[in-house]
Amino acid sequence: MIITVTLTPALDKTVILPGFRVDQVNRIQSLRLDAGGKGINVSKVLRSLDTDSLATGILGGGTGRYIENSLRSQGIAADFVWVEQETRANLKVVDPELHTNTDINEPGAPVSADVIEAVYQKAEAVARAGDIVVLAGKAPAGTPDTVFADWIARLNRRGARAYLDADAGLLIEGVKAKPALIKPNDAELSRLTGRAFDGVADMARAARELAHSGIGTVVVSLGGDGALFVTAEQTLRGHGLRVPVQSTVGAGDSMMAAMAHGAEKGLPFRDTCALAMAVSAAAVTTPGTQPADADTVNQLLRQVKIEEI
Ligand SMILES: Nc1ncnc2c1ncn2[C@@H]1O[C@H](COP(=O)(O)OP(=O)(O)OP(=O)(O)O)[C@@H](O)[C@H]1O
Ligand SMILES: [Mg+2]
Repeated sequence: MIITVTLTPALDKTVILPGFRVDQVNRIQSLRLDAGGKGINVSKVLRSLDTDSLATGILGGGTGRYIENSLRSQGIAADFVWVEQETRANLKVVDPELHTNTDINEPGAPVSADVIEAVYQKAEAVARAGDIVVLAGKAPAGTPDTVFADWIARLNRRGARAYLDADAGLLIEGVKAKPALIKPNDAELSRLTGRAFDGVADMARAARELAHSGIGTVVVSLGGDGALFVTAEQTLRGHGLRVPVQSTVGAGDSMMAAMAHGAEKGLPFRDTCALAMAVSAAAVTTPGTQPADADTVNQLLRQVKIEEI
């Protein structure tokens, strides 16, 4: 079983608006609403891979209900902790004429420590030994940076596998508790280690140190340049796939989903990494955080080049 946790979900409202002008009346050409937030994105990509997951986290108000309905209508099980405060809606203005992408994001509301603990309890109630719990994204304002570290330690004691995709303090504290997998991009790896890197080999060395410190798998994603997949035993380099780029938002979440899918299905590690390369590159070819279809993924899978370095 895979459980995804999103402490700060958002409704992504993407509007297509040719010739966007400030200080003017602008007319929207088309609009789409997507349930968003990193753990939720992972659940959506898992569904596209035919793998079930349970999405949990914090939702509130009408926006929260919209997100829950949207997940359920996509066939994703959802069991969130409900709060008074309305879940955020983030506006993304895509201008196909000026080729601009403008994000207008609402701030998230702080929540109490009890709510945070209630989310953990929802995950713990279903997580059996060997299950994967994906902890992804930011925590609400005021939440201590140790929140994921605390959960990882508790999940480890139950024999569940924590997959962490976070940044800054949440990641720095989180790795101390030895998650089963982390997926920093290059900037996040720099912030985690406090180092600037001189090329891929240098990053691979830092990732190996982390793997040797007891983190099972360290995936370093390098955007269009591909990714590194590092365990204590081996270092694989996945070369970037050339794809027509629509939106790179959520590419990392797709990679996380494929890593969880491969582990859940017991795929060989190298096959899981190859799938992660294909699924994430495929995600880049779709607008917003929409997962790609199976045909696109399979076509890209045949082009994946992975080598041991
Ligand atoms: N322009 C691109 N072309 C091909 N593949 C890409 C491109 N951008 C991203 N990818 C694929 O997606 C993976 C993850 O991307 P990236 O490193 O940008 O993650 P990220 O910064 O964590 O993204 P996010 O947090 O927004 O989901 C890459 O390792 C790569 O496989
Ligand atoms: Mg990311």
